[in-house]
Amino acid sequence: MGEEGKAPVVAEAHLVDTFHPPQKMLDKHPSKPHVGSLEEYQKLYKESITEPEKFWAQKARELLTWQRDFDTVRSGTLSNGDVAWFPEGQLNAAYNCVDRHAFKDPNKVAIIYEADEPGEGRNLTYGELLREVSRVAYVLKKMGVRKGDTVAVYLPMIPEALIALLAIIRVGAVHSVVFAGFSADSLRDRVIDGQSRVVITADEGKRGGKLIGTKKIVDDALKQCPDVTGVLVFKRTGADVPFTPGRDLWWHEEVQKWPSYIAPEIMNSEDPLFLLYTSGSTGKPKGVMHTTGGYLLGAAMTGKYVFDIHDGDRYFCGGDVGWITGHTYVVYAPLLLGVSTVVFEGTPAYPNFSRYWDIIDQHEITQFYVAPTALRLLKRAGDDFVKARMPKLRVLGSVGEPIAAEVWKWYFEVVGREEAHIVDTYWQTETGSNVITPLAGVTPTKPGSASLPFFGVEPAIIDPVSGEEIHGNDVEGVLAFKQPWPSMARTVWGAHKRYMETYLDVYKGYYFTGDGAGRDHEGFYWIRGRVDDVVNVSGHRLSTAEIEAALIEHHAVAESAVVGVADELTGQAVNAFVAINKGVEGSDALRKEFILQVRRSIGPFAAPKAVYIVPDLPKTRSGKIMRRILRKILAGEEDQLGDITTLSDPTVVDKIITIVHEAR
Ligand code: WTA
Repeated sequence: MGEEGKAPVVAEAHLVDTFHPPQKMLDKHPSKPHVGSLEEYQKLYKESITEPEKFWAQKARELLTWQRDFDTVRSGTLSNGDVAWFPEGQLNAAYNCVDRHAFKDPNKVAIIYEADEPGEGRNLTYGELLREVSRVAYVLKKMGVRKGDTVAVYLPMIPEALIALLAIIRVGAVHSVVFAGFSADSLRDRVIDGQSRVVITADEGKRGGKLIGTKKIVDDALKQCPDVTGVLVFKRTGADVPFTPGRDLWWHEEVQKWPSYIAPEIMNSEDPLFLLYTSGSTGKPKGVMHTTGGYLLGAAMTGKYVFDIHDGDRYFCGGDVGWITGHTYVVYAPLLLGVSTVVFEGTPAYPNFSRYWDIIDQHEITQFYVAPTALRLLKRAGDDFVKARMPKLRVLGSVGEPIAAEVWKWYFEVVGREEAHIVDTYWQTETGSNVITPLAGVTPTKPGSASLPFFGVEPAIIDPVSGEEIHGNDVEGVLAFKQPWPSMARTVWGAHKRYMETYLDVYKGYYFTGDGAGRDHEGFYWIRGRVDDVVNVSGHRLSTAEIEAALIEHHAVAESAVVGVADELTGQAVNAFVAINKGVEGSDALRKEFILQVRRSIGPFAAPKAVYIVPDLPKTRSGKIMRRILRKILAGEEDQLGDITTLSDPTVVDKIITIVHEAR
């Protein structure tokens, strides 16, 4: 289990309460959940594992519209890293998300835009969405975007972010969204690695009453991206922003030129749909690649069964489109199922801590989905902010990090008034959609457990020491999956070898998640967190190596070690230990510079919460940095450091302990 390996106690699982789908949730249901009972789930699940081809062929034909039907359901294996789903099938993702609903009911609301400032939003119907998407698709073609090209998107949470993605996939191109909180340097790296020649952005963003200089960041990034030929700029605030003639185009001017219907490009099921960069254990972020048919099916299936989406539902996922949660659950799942999706530009704290609940109440939201970090913040703000009635709310989702039992209970009792079912959904950028999760209205839940596997997902607990699968219940180890599922990532862009090494070669025949997990006496899964050098800050996935690489760019830094420490509000926080070059004087100002360095190099959300300037880092004689020792010191467990005599200089440990104590 990595450096940190400790086996958490399974016994705790025996003591927790089991919550069944509340009767009141079923009473307010417009009809009934898609799956009738836990037994029915178990039967369907078994089918999905023993006869995956039959199961998925039927679902793919039911939930997606194909221009050409497929013959083969699944080919390839995890060991070979050549998995393909529905290979002869042809379809267009935008057609599936927009056209087919617009043709049937053009006046149905597709997007509920809730602007940063309450009251400034608007609704877009499926008919309007089809027209807007078509126009932007036309513009992209005129800008030279062709089938298979990647287009970078750096936009705030506005309807145009969805329109941009849908326009890109309409012309058969591949979107590569970069979270608008990333710095110019990070954007630059992703534009270059993804080989994007067109970027879509906005003049400015607006969040929590504050303005963000979006276009300026893009301009900075593109100084070092000579291959970018076009930038399409949406006017969000009307700020005066620099414009590069010949490269930059205003969205509102361009869309006026073109008709409001353009035929979608017919794509093969395995054509790439998007790249999304995520952090791993090495410094360089990887462009996780998803393909069309399988990804769309995973999104539609989990939307339908995990969130129990029914026609007429109004779905609100608070994730940002810059992360996988925003991709799958703001954009794809709700639109594939033809329901209304909320696009929320603001923050849960603006203008006050009631914002989410007011949105849910006002728009009669049926499903709400958010990360525990937001819930911790709102719980701390106090129950008085949760006054809204929220009468239609049936499902409350949690994602991105473990949810503590007391936060789970607050969500259930105070937010949901025991009338909504909580689904704690475990998944990753690489899995494309929920993989271990309750089904709303069906699965009994235990606070803190993501419960049972989704259809087609066959989890395995592996002993990290022997590499062998551990069978049976009441076991702990690392989590892997034994069968390919439709929405799994197919590669890392331009680095298939890295894809194999990270996910498929670690335990041959399995997909390795990078998470530790336990399976309790009833077969429920408990996610323990990452076993690699990934930290999870407010649900944002960060690599310690990436932050260390950012710090080392500062001229005063000789060496650094970054570790994640438990944090009440953000789940984990980044702490950095920095050894500075000889002749440089340590100071508060220098510490601030280091923090700024990380903000500039990666983005504000990656900034270390604490920086300790130390004379040296604890290292083995072969030079390996012992992050475990640093973590123990931060946790106040100096008495459990183990044998430190093998360090190249054991005396640094005491010095570091003193520095940490003095700083607190
Ligand atoms: C963690 C976010 C516990 C896990 C969708 C995983 C979770 C990483 C849960 C992926 C959950 C996600 N309970 N931990 N319900 N969901 N994680 O790629 O460590 O940003 O490997 O995808 O988040 O983060 P990513």
